[in-house]
Amino acid sequence: MKQINNNPKKKIFSGIQPTNTPHIGNYLGAMKNWLKLQDEYECTYSIVDLHSITVRQDPAKLRKQIMESFALLIAMGLDPEKSTVFVQGHNPRHAELSWILSCYTQFGELSRMTQFKDKSKKNSDNINAGLFTYPVLMAADILLYQADLVPVGIDQKQHLELARNIAVRFNNAYGETFTVPEPYISKSTAKIMSLQDPFAKMSKSDENPNSSVSVLDDRDTIIRKFKRAVTDSDKEICYKEGKDGINNLISIYSAATDKSIEQIEKEFDGKGYGDFKIAVGEAVSDMLKPMQERFKEIIKDKKYINDLMILGAEKAQRATFKTLKKVHKRVGFVVL
Ligand code: TRP
Repeated sequence: MKQINNNPKKKIFSGIQPTNTPHIGNYLGAMKNWLKLQDEYECTYSIVDLHSITVRQDPAKLRKQIMESFALLIAMGLDPEKSTVFVQGHNPRHAELSWILSCYTQFGELSRMTQFKDKSKKNSDNINAGLFTYPVLMAADILLYQADLVPVGIDQKQHLELARNIAVRFNNAYGETFTVPEPYISKSTAKIMSLQDPFAKMSKSDENPNSSVSVLDDRDTIIRKFKRAVTDSDKEICYKEGKDGINNLISIYSAATDKSIEQIEKEFDGKGYGDFKIAVGEAVSDMLKPMQERFKEIIKDKKYINDLMILGAEKAQRATFKTLKKVHKRVGFVVL
């Protein structure tokens, strides 16, 4: 019996918002992971500009950030030939499928999304319909590419669950149309906390600039921020309950150097917090350096970025033609 296996690699889709420069929490928690996956899987990574306008953005700043986010993914080492790296708005099928899927999503389901509840509290003067239907667009992103796996953080799990429900519902109504995606949970993903409040996740929107380290911060800034990191009044550098600030720094140092916690505890045995903080800052700066250098070259070259964006857009459009056509047929549109 002849078996033709012409699609051995599982498909991965993930997206990142182009709002503010990513911080080391984004880098260590998500972006670095994307890089690791690109050999084993068929990966599609998107800068989700459509999602970002659910909260008001300054147009010039948004445009700059889309360019920068894209350049960063390339600078980080994503291979635009091997993977599909593209800007969501450059493939109009996302918005189109999103409309269709919104007719297969219940008002009640969207009302239960905790991120909608949080965001509408934070943006009480702009609770727009896009903020409400945001998870449908995310479902469209994923289902359009027939993704098997979606690397997401815990904050996006509810949205992924919704995408699965929509896929199953559609498949049940019309026959197999969409792959039902699974979450991809990485074993080694570090959860990085704020440097100023080790109980809160490091966040792009934190008002205190010392709480997070941007992937584009220069060496002095990085070291200064780590020097100011909130720790405790103890002296020992060890990973232990109650030492949340130090635990966070140990996690960051471990992620930046690939050293184990035990190795780190040994390395800093008898040393003070001051020395340790500087070492963490230096390690983070060393980790980011190659990406920062590459980024500086790429960002100057608008044509290079533009060409890669076109390549990504073409690949994304090609990958989604069939699925959208099938959806049109299934729901009863006249397909030309
Ligand atoms: N909503 C995600 C976030 O804010 C970004 C995103 C959009 C995404 N579409 C996606 C993530 C599809 C995974 C898959 O982080």
